[in-house]
Formats: sequence, structure tokens, C-alpha cells
Amino acid sequence: MSKTADVVDARKPWNIEAAAAILRAGGLVAFPTETVYGLGADALNPPAVARIFEVKKRPRFDPIIVHVADAEEAGRYGSLDSEAAKELIRRFWPGPLTLVVPRSELVPPIVTAGLDAVGIRMPAHPAALALIRALGRPIAAPSANPFGYVSPTEARHVSEQLGTRVDLILDGGRCRVGIESTVLSLADPVPRILRAGGVTAEEIAQVVGRVEYAPHAAGTPRAPGQLQRHYATNTPLEIITKPDDARATAGERVGLLALKAPGEQSGWAAVEILSETGDLREAAANLFGALRRLDRIGLDRILALALPEEGLGMAIMDRLRRCAARPPAGPPMGAA
Ligand code: TXA
Ligand code: MG
Repeated sequence: MSKTADVVDARKPWNIEAAAAILRAGGLVAFPTETVYGLGADALNPPAVARIFEVKKRPRFDPIIVHVADAEEAGRYGSLDSEAAKELIRRFWPGPLTLVVPRSELVPPIVTAGLDAVGIRMPAHPAALALIRALGRPIAAPSANPFGYVSPTEARHVSEQLGTRVDLILDGGRCRVGIESTVLSLADPVPRILRAGGVTAEEIAQVVGRVEYAPHAAGTPRAPGQLQRHYATNTPLEIITKPDDARATAGERVGLLALKAPGEQSGWAAVEILSETGDLREAAANLFGALRRLDRIGLDRILALALPEEGLGMAIMDRLRRCAARPPAGPPMGAA
């Protein structure tokens, strides 16, 4: 049996140094960001990036985000000199916005899954920034979960699922935003949201004027964040619009996920409230932890009460819809 990776305090500089040494040697380090935990490798080391795909059981067609520690450095890896890019970077970096732009020759094709565009972001987390600076190179990192499963927002989520397959886990506490970055393509004539996330469509529109978002667009996904089933619990999940729509059959154990406490709280095997005050930021931060808790108590079903689709509610509903999508034939995704 392989050894479980150490979980160490991300605030200690010597742990950042140790993590950077592992990355330099081609290893994998899970680290905190403000959105979710990332599974990092040296972005300029193709064999190290290849290990990310193996550990996550991630399909090779799914490109990986390149994390940088400052905007100037970012320009070496992708074309960020358009007015739109500059404005977006000024307004949202460091933060939960990934910009998809034409890649430079410095980025190995395995990172972008062979695409001509690269996704770049500067995370707003001191440990993530310290790690990138200590390595002296950008870090390629997807969310640190088995492909298709709910993203990790605490170090122990990573150690539970990938503990034996990473070299070190930096513990930076709970992720503040709790939902992944917004992935925005600047490669289209009008900026297009490929994945809703921590920066809202409204906020982006304020900067670039117009932004396109077609969450249910048909055709081949360009971002697997666009895959129908993703961010999924093993327990079947359904979205309901009124608490009254929820009827548990006798003998069935059903859990409820809701923004605020519903009037009637009996009959549920478990209830997860995302924010007592109905605050969507707090709800986003609590979403994945709540889904994980509901997923490990042997429920027959999870019912999620629909949230308002404004601001961060858009990203939250996006994740819930993908979680609710019918699984493809075969074993449950994320059952790693
Ligand atoms: O908040 C986040 O974005 C977290 C933290 C760790 O930074 N990362 C994350 O990575 O969620 P991942 O790989 O789990 O999801 C990234 C999404 C995927 O849907 C991927 O397909 C898309 O971004 N993406 C990355 N590079 C892209 C590119 N060049 N073109 C189109 N989509 C891209
Ligand atoms: Mg992911």
C-alpha cells in the first residue's frame, strides 16, 4: 500500500520551500487557492503534467489552467495585451477569473491538451502565490479531485481521495470562494464564459460591455467544465423548485440541500443549509463541503432546492445541474 502524503501548514515558509522542491523534481503538490484546492505540477515540465492526468484519471482532451504569480509573468505564456484582457486583469486579478487566450510557445501542448489557447489565472491566495514564486515557474493545476467528482475545498478532502497519489498536501484551511474560477474565452469576437464561477457574468459585463454565456449549448464541449455530468456526487441528486415538490417515499432516506432553511424540516434524513441569511457568497463557499457530507451518509437521493440564478447563483446552479445530469453508462464517476 502506498503511503498517504503529509498534510502540512501552508503558512510556514519551510513547507512552501519543501513543496517547491517537490515540484522542481517533477512531483505533484496539492495546494490551496481561494476557489478550490489545486493539484499542481511545474507547468513547463511535460512528464510532471502527464502525472496530473494519471492521478485524476482525467481525459487527455481536457486542458489545464496555468497559475501565475503576477500579470506581467502571465504575458509570457499567453497573449494578454488586448484592451479587454488588460482591463479584466486590472479588475479581477488576483482572483477567480481564468482567461483563455492564444498560448505562447513556452506552454507545452500537454497543458492545453493540444489547443492553441491557454487558460491562465493568478490566484488570490498567499500560499498559492508563495509556491509559484518559490518555484520560479508557473504551476499547472486542475482541481484536486478525481475527474468528475465534487472539487475539494479543504485539505482533508484531498487527502481522503488523492492522499496516496500526491507527494505533499499544503493545508491552507477552507477555501474562501469555494467554487472554481470563471473561465472566460477572449479568443472569440465577444468574450464568452466557458464555465460560470467565482467572478459573475454581471461583473465581467461591467468591464467588457458584452459577454456571452451559453451554459446549455449543444455540441462538443470546449471545456470539460462544460461536460453535462461533472462536479457529481455518487448519490443521485435532483433539483426541485419548491420544497413541497419533495416527497420522500416511505423507507427512503432523502437529504435536502437548500439555500435557506425551508419551513418544514421534518422527514429528511439530513438537511444542509448553504446560508442562513440567503447570502450567495456564503452559499458558494459552503456548496462542495455540503455535497460531500450528504454524499457520505448512505442517502438514497439528494434533493437540491433551486437557487436564484443571479450573481454567484449562476455558478452554483451550474454545478448542481451538472451533478444532477444522468450518469453515463459504466461505474459512477469519481468512484476512484
Ligand atoms: O478555480 C479554479 O479554476 C481551480 C483552481 C485550482 O485554480 N482549477 C480548476 O481546474 O477548476 P479544472 O481543471 O478542474 O477546471 C478548469 C476548467 C476545465 O473545464 C478546463 O477544460 C477549462 O477550465 N480550461 C482550461 N484551459 C482551457 C483552455 N485552454 N481552453 C478552454 N478551456 C480551458
Ligand atoms: Mg475540476
